[in-house]
Amino acid sequence: MTVNILRPRVGLLSTARSKNLYKVVHKSYPASEPHHESVLLKESLEMLGLKPGMTVVDCTLGLGGHSAEILKAIGPKGHLYAFEKDARNLKVAKERLGKIAKNFTIFHDSFSSLTDRLRREGASLFDAILFDLGLSSPHVDDAARGFSFSKEGPLDMRFDPRQKKTAADVLNSYTESDLADVFYKYGEERQSRKLARAVVDDRRKGPFVSTQQFLSFLDRVLGRAKSGKNRAPQIFQALRMEVNEELLALELGLNQAIELLAPHGRVVVLSYHSLEDRFVKQLFKQLATDLRDPNDIFGRRVLRSKSLSLLTKKPIKPSAEEVSRNPRARSAVLRAVEKLPT
Ligand SMILES: C[S@@+](CC[C@H](N)C(=O)[O-])C[C@H]1O[C@@H](n2cnc3c(N)ncnc32)[C@H](O)[C@@H]1O
Repeated sequence: MTVNILRPRVGLLSTARSKNLYKVVHKSYPASEPHHESVLLKESLEMLGLKPGMTVVDCTLGLGGHSAEILKAIGPKGHLYAFEKDARNLKVAKERLGKIAKNFTIFHDSFSSLTDRLRREGASLFDAILFDLGLSSPHVDDAARGFSFSKEGPLDMRFDPRQKKTAADVLNSYTESDLADVFYKYGEERQSRKLARAVVDDRRKGPFVSTQQFLSFLDRVLGRAKSGKNRAPQIFQALRMEVNEELLALELGLNQAIELLAPHGRVVVLSYHSLEDRFVKQLFKQLATDLRDPNDIFGRRVLRSKSLSLLTKKPIKPSAEEVSRNPRARSAVLRAVEKLPT
């Protein structure tokens, strides 16, 4: 099917008119069957150390690929709790898991509410907790969600459309300095200030509304890197992380998950970019090391004993075979820890 790419912001279209154009664009995209190939599936299950009867949390249910295998491993005496921000993914996963088992509870919520949600269910200690971060294939495949820089769609990028702030809102309302921070912190963009200034100048002519419009703006302002590398993926990633407050959610969720582990319980995290992985690596390392009193000249006095043991001294990465079967797995990095008994 050929898709007519509309460029609503060329000229001086009003926001209202741009929105109407988008209604037309949305209708022209077919709704394909959602599919997501679970990444490092075998390795994640092994690292979770699953046994029949365990109580497990999947913090990022997605389409339920990991959860389906978790349910099989814990059997009817175990229980699975799962979190998912995206109602559409949640619905597909619920149907899928319902065909396998009944012993699961799904929350349409962020994993940053982990403790609160689980305690309200009367559950407080867990044997294994999984985070498979980032987006799922249906997010990228469905142009109308606005995650893909290679497809025309609205600048949306929300995992949970009940949330108000979209990527367009970030571009059209943030101050120049806040925009520069977003591009620098989350996109590691060297020309973040130049880009932020150009966004603020350009939006005076009319709002940013579409992915392809923003893409051609990026090409105009940043051009290609010397290596010929396209910078759009990093900038789109930065917007997505800001819209969904991904690093904040990870910080809140991962700290709570570690607290919620039973002795010998495990946390497994799959990250897809260096900012996430850096945070996970540092937190795990910090909690897997005794904190010693810097004022003790013999360095013996322990202020806080280590609470975790590292199961992955080096992170696990997908095999060449997995990457050739599923190129979206290429940047995945798996880290795992086990809670030490006190
Ligand atoms: C990589 S996919 C998970 C795929 C899943 N493991 C599978 O095998 O089908 C990540 C999912 O996490 C969801 N998500 C992202 N951030 C979240 C958050 N803070 N809380 C809950 N779900 C989140 C996304 O909507 C997406 O569906």
